Amino acid sequence: MKRILTTLLVLVALTVTAQADEVPLLGNVYARQTTLLNGDWNYIVDVQEEGYYDYRMNVSRWGFFQNAKPQRPEDLIEYDFDKAPKMQIPSDWNTKDEKLFFYEGTVWFYRKFNVESSKLKDGKKLLYFGAVNYDCHVYVNTKHVAHHIGGFTPFNIDVTDQLKEGENVVIVKVDNKRHKDNVPTQIFDWWNYGGITRDVMLVSVAGNYIENYKWNLEKADAKAKKRTITLTANLNKAEAGQQIEVSIPELKLKQTLTTDAEGKVSSEFIVQSSKLTLWSPESPKLYDVEMTLNGETLKDQVGFRTIETRGKQILLNGNPVFLKGISIHEEKVNGGGRCNSINDAKTLLSMAQELGCNFVRLAHYPHNEYMVREAERRGIMVWSEIPVYWTISWTNEGTFNNAKRQLTDMILRDQNRANVIIWSIANETPHSNERDSFLGRLAEYARTLDNTRLISMAMEVTGQSNYVNRLQDNMNKYVDVVSFNQYIGWYRDVNDAPKMKWEIPYEKPVIISEFGGGAKYGYHGAKNQRWTEEFQENLYKENTAMIDKIDGLAGTTPWILKDFRSPRRVLNGIQDYYNMKGLFSDKGEKKKAFYVLKDWYLSK
Ligand code: GCU
Repeated sequence: MKRILTTLLVLVALTVTAQADEVPLLGNVYARQTTLLNGDWNYIVDVQEEGYYDYRMNVSRWGFFQNAKPQRPEDLIEYDFDKAPKMQIPSDWNTKDEKLFFYEGTVWFYRKFNVESSKLKDGKKLLYFGAVNYDCHVYVNTKHVAHHIGGFTPFNIDVTDQLKEGENVVIVKVDNKRHKDNVPTQIFDWWNYGGITRDVMLVSVAGNYIENYKWNLEKADAKAKKRTITLTANLNKAEAGQQIEVSIPELKLKQTLTTDAEGKVSSEFIVQSSKLTLWSPESPKLYDVEMTLNGETLKDQVGFRTIETRGKQILLNGNPVFLKGISIHEEKVNGGGRCNSINDAKTLLSMAQELGCNFVRLAHYPHNEYMVREAERRGIMVWSEIPVYWTISWTNEGTFNNAKRQLTDMILRDQNRANVIIWSIANETPHSNERDSFLGRLAEYARTLDNTRLISMAMEVTGQSNYVNRLQDNMNKYVDVVSFNQYIGWYRDVNDAPKMKWEIPYEKPVIISEFGGGAKYGYHGAKNQRWTEEFQENLYKENTAMIDKIDGLAGTTPWILKDFRSPRRVLNGIQDYYNMKGLFSDKGEKKKAFYVLKDWYLSK
């Protein structure tokens, strides 16, 4: 007994003090050697975090992560994951267990998985989570390996040293409680779906592996005979002299690059313009690209295009483009909770394409990779955003680092997606010096990570008198595209849209990142009767006519594709915890306003 106790004490000591083993994000994880850990996970709902804190609210050494089992009849262990109910992962607990529909708190997840000895011999094993909302602690074989916050971006953990041959156990404590210093903060107009919401994978990589890379097509004038494709890539180690073979077979481009002292490579590939098909909504051309290091080949499908602004125009491949968009929340149809699969992506994107969209605003947080890649295959451009939403704790450096981390991971995951054209750093944030400095730092930082895409944010109309709407925002100098939300006809000035004028004193393209109004599908009546399809239809008619007159209008993403769950929408019989501003109902039924927007986009 004394021996078991000492071993346990040593183990616990190790666990508590051990450093989190998160490593920089793996690029293109789905092309790696992976073992999917999706499926049934046991779960324990732990309202008072009994499994984490002792009754003095100190972090307990005997927490549920120990996965302890009674050794003797008199042993007292008051939890047993193997007897706990199961939940399909990835998912959100809110739609998987009706008792947890409104639940915000801690849930523990547990899963056993086998690792063959052959798999342990060489290389590294990274445990990859597509997303966990919101605050999670990860334990592998009782060792604490990571503490991650942020519910919408991936992270991966080096668990090589924790794994053993045969049965292994991963335990994840997930807490989705809202706090003012979080990102997003305490209040937001969407359902706070909790859980392990995206794929979980065990990824096998060599000891030395290609961590991430970035392809890009240099801008050039339209008549350029040759185009320059650039590539930068980095290994997980700062190791010089490593050879990476890079090829784009279809373009007969091949080079062998040698890493510098930082384990990085960068190079240019010159191609005849006539040989290169640029990615665009009309022809979403993707090229197979291959990178081989020590015999291990990483494949990807990459499109080449340029995106830039010129005055008040957005230019795709040097040509002005109008962004016929729609805003989308990452939510399944038919009340199904968080999207997490290719089929979910296909469902939502097909609805957007029925509208005639060539652009989607993935609001208000990075959506799953299936969504972004499926949109790329379908020629749909993407606005991707981090949840710096409403009134964030601007002066809290922890909050800033959290936002910065989410921005980093959003960019590192999707930097090779040709269809992603805009990084959005915020939505509807109140003006103040603290806010300006917070967002200004984020915008500048985003450009250091990626200066090939446009930066924007969803601003708000700042003043209106005598039907003249003004947009004054200090952030204009940090963004490439001036985007703002306006709800004329819904939250204000019903039926006044035809009289409205706009003052937007910036020589930049304008995107109306939100407009719209609610309607209950099937509820019909006079066009001035709130919640009827006729009211929403009329609002869209008036708004599209008004917006059409805005100088510099380069696109719009009306709010929103489909009705979506929100705890802020409590009007019984109409909202019933749904924001009803969809052009589709949650069941995918088209409301009358759908046809107004479809026709307008046909005219564009
Ligand atoms: C805001 C906000 C959305 C919200 C919408 C609404 O503009 O950005 O998240 O859902 O308005 O009120 O419906």
